[in-house]
Amino acid sequence: MIGKDLNKAAEMLRTGNLVAIPTETVYGLAANALDPFAVSQIFAAKQRPEFNPLILHLAATDNPENYAETMTDSAIKLTKEFWPGPLSILLNKKKVVPDLVTGGLDSVVLRKPSHPLTQSLLEKLDFPLAAPSANKFQGISPTLPQHVQDSLGSKVSYILDGGASTIGLESTIVDCRTEPSTLLRYGGISLEEIEACVGEVQVQIKENSNPLAPGQMDKHYATSKPLFLVEDLEQAMLLYPKSSMSAISWNQKVDADFYYTLSSKQDLIEAAANLYGCMHDADSDASDLILVQKVPNKGLGLAINDRLKRASS
Ligand code: TXA
Ligand code: MG
Repeated sequence: MIGKDLNKAAEMLRTGNLVAIPTETVYGLAANALDPFAVSQIFAAKQRPEFNPLILHLAATDNPENYAETMTDSAIKLTKEFWPGPLSILLNKKKVVPDLVTGGLDSVVLRKPSHPLTQSLLEKLDFPLAAPSANKFQGISPTLPQHVQDSLGSKVSYILDGGASTIGLESTIVDCRTEPSTLLRYGGISLEEIEACVGEVQVQIKENSNPLAPGQMDKHYATSKPLFLVEDLEQAMLLYPKSSMSAISWNQKVDADFYYTLSSKQDLIEAAANLYGCMHDADSDASDLILVQKVPNKGLGLAINDRLKRASS
C-alpha cells in the first residue's frame, strides 16, 4: 500500500515489518537495523545474498558514534559538509550493530538521508534503519513509489510516498578509516566535491563480483531487456536493423522507436535524476533492446557511466 502516513510507517517498523522509504537518492527498503529478524526479511524480500552488507540510516539528531568507533578527521569533515545528504561513510563498527547488517565485516556504513519525510520518520523511532535500494537484487533502483510497488509490492507492508527522488543516484560511499580516505562507490556527491572537502582521495571501485570486497557486484542495476552503453547512438542503431529499439540519449537526436533524453539541457545533475526513470520506462516499453549514450566522465557523469556499465549486457 502506498501512502503518506508517518505514524503507520513508524508502527510497522517498530513491530519488525518492512517499509519502503523515500530518500533523496533512491527509495530504500527499510527495517529496524538493531533487530536481526527484521533485517533478515530485507534479504528475503530482495532475494539478496546475505553477505552483501547494508547501510544504516540515522536521524539528523542521532550520533554516529552510537554505531561506529571514533569518527576520524575525514569523517568529521565530510559529515559536517554533506550530512544530511547523499554521502555514506565507512568506519569500524560497534557491537550494537548486528552482524547480519554488516555481512560479518568489522565495519559499518552510515548515512543521514536528507529527505524530510524520512527524517521525520527517523526522529519518531528509537533505532536506525537498515535500508538497501528497494528493488529486487541486481534490478534497477527505484526513484518513485510506483517502481517499488512494481518490483516488491507484495513483500512490503507499506510504501511511504515522498514523491520522486531528487538526486536519483545512490549515495557516494567513502571509507574514512584510511588516510587518505578511499572512495568505494561513485554516487550523488561527486569525486570533485569530496576532494574539495578532504583533499585527494584514493578511488577503489570494485569491478569484480567479490562480495566481501566493499562495494558492488559487477552485474547490477540491470534492465530485463539487453542494454548497451554506446558512444554514438546513430552508429549503434545500424548494428540492429531488425530490432525495435529504445534510445536513451545524452546529446544526440535519433529516430529510434522509443526515444528518451537524460537532460534536454545536457545537465549532469538533471541526467542523474532522470537516469533510473528512463531505464524503467525503456524496460517497460515495446522495444526489444535499449541503447544508452555515454555521458561525459566528470562530476556526476562518473556515477552515471558506472551504473550504466554495470547495467549493460
Ligand atoms: O543512496 C543509498 O545509499 C541508498 C538509499 C536507500 O539510502 N542505499 C543503497 O543501499 O544504495 P544498497 O544496499 O543498494 O548499497 C549499499 C552498498 C553495497 O554496495 C554494499 O556492499 C556497501 O554499500 N556496503 C554496506 N556496508 C558495507 C561495509 N561494511 N563494507 C563495505 N561495503 C559496504
Ligand atoms: Mg542497490
